[in-house]
Amino acid sequence: MGFCPQCRSDDGLVEEAEAASSRRVRDRPEPIPLAKVGDAPVERMATGIGEIDRVLGGGIVPGGAVLIGGEPGVGKSTLLLQVGGSLAAAGRQVLIASAEESADQVGLRAERLGIRGDGVDLLAVDGIDQIIDAADHTRPDLLIVDSIQTVSAPEVGGTAGGVAQIRECAARVIRFAKDHATAVVLIGHVTKDGGIAGPKILEHMVDVVLYLEGDADHELRMLRSLKNRFGATHLAGLFEMQHEGLAEVADPSAALVGDWSGSVPGTVVLPTMEGRRPVLVEVQALVCSTQAVQPRRSFSGLEPARVHQLLAVLERHAGLGFGGKEAYASVVGGIRVTEPAADLAIMLALSSSLLDKPLGSVAAWGEVGLTGEVRQASLGKRRRQEAERMGIERVLAPGPGGVHRVDEALVRAGLTLP
Ligand code: TYD
Ligand code: MG
Repeated sequence: MGFCPQCRSDDGLVEEAEAASSRRVRDRPEPIPLAKVGDAPVERMATGIGEIDRVLGGGIVPGGAVLIGGEPGVGKSTLLLQVGGSLAAAGRQVLIASAEESADQVGLRAERLGIRGDGVDLLAVDGIDQIIDAADHTRPDLLIVDSIQTVSAPEVGGTAGGVAQIRECAARVIRFAKDHATAVVLIGHVTKDGGIAGPKILEHMVDVVLYLEGDADHELRMLRSLKNRFGATHLAGLFEMQHEGLAEVADPSAALVGDWSGSVPGTVVLPTMEGRRPVLVEVQALVCSTQAVQPRRSFSGLEPARVHQLLAVLERHAGLGFGGKEAYASVVGGIRVTEPAADLAIMLALSSSLLDKPLGSVAAWGEVGLTGEVRQASLGKRRRQEAERMGIERVLAPGPGGVHRVDEALVRAGLTLP
């Protein structure tokens, strides 16, 4: 340029020879042949709580970072206190850094859960460096940070819970985990609508992402794995929130549809897959007339965009009009279902409510495309077996002898199309 673009002086530039290249060669890292890496089996700490170990693929991995997200009040602190208590009972050392609740509050909860103090240390501070110093001193097998939104690093700008703070605090805890082969669990809150600012930005930083889901009005809680660098994902564990903490649910289908009968309009059973385990859930719908210009649509536990699409398919391919009607659909028990195989069940529930006709004891599944065709879903045999086991009388599903189109499915379910 001949001049400095900032200060405009024409003798402000100095030529420098590139001297760093020889040093770069000396510091060159040595790649390791893949065949020589990682033949040591991953060692895991079983928590002793079956449903959690299953979701984690056997237990917590030392040096691994787990993020557990969930809405406030869903039971994250309770679950992790139980994990801590269980690990401590097996002779492990656990450090719980509680930035949210006082030591007394955690102590009271531990008492309620019947957890004795030995092996679980408590630290009620919110400075990330204090937490890491304490962990460095006591060297626990597991460090629990409750919650990542309430800890802060003073030299980083922004308030606790802000993106910069969350990222920095998590990075320090994860670095500590890797450096000292300590397992860490970060607890993070998400809001009802999936809360982006919190745990979402951490998902790529941690090894395992779990979400604890459930409805404040129901006791059932589902622990789901969304990411697991040490094992399979899309596994789920089911718990029930009881007075003495979270208890494992051995038979989720029985808990969810054990006393279900399809004797009223707008309800159907969906055999959904949680990993390779089928779980029967109840899908409900309510459709009613409204004077509102924009009829209300509300879908909980389901993907709203998906249900809107299904309404359009019903309108176009089954001739069912939802214009001028409010439409609600939900999965009972605060369970979330995101697999497309839920399509047919959702459509049956909506149609049954619209036409005010009960479907009876029916289980249904199948992905429904834009042209109204019903597509195969994975593991149909297991879904069918689970429906039979729970005494569901009829199955409507794609496959040989099954349904191929959505209008055909509605007719076979006993609905009269216009
Ligand atoms: P908590 O673990 O504090 O939720 P989070 O950490 O996700 O915000 O759980 C809070 C709720 O759980 C609270 O509403 C009371 C209920 N609860 C029980 O029903 N039984 C129990 O034994 C405990 C400890 C809590
Ligand atoms: Mg909590």
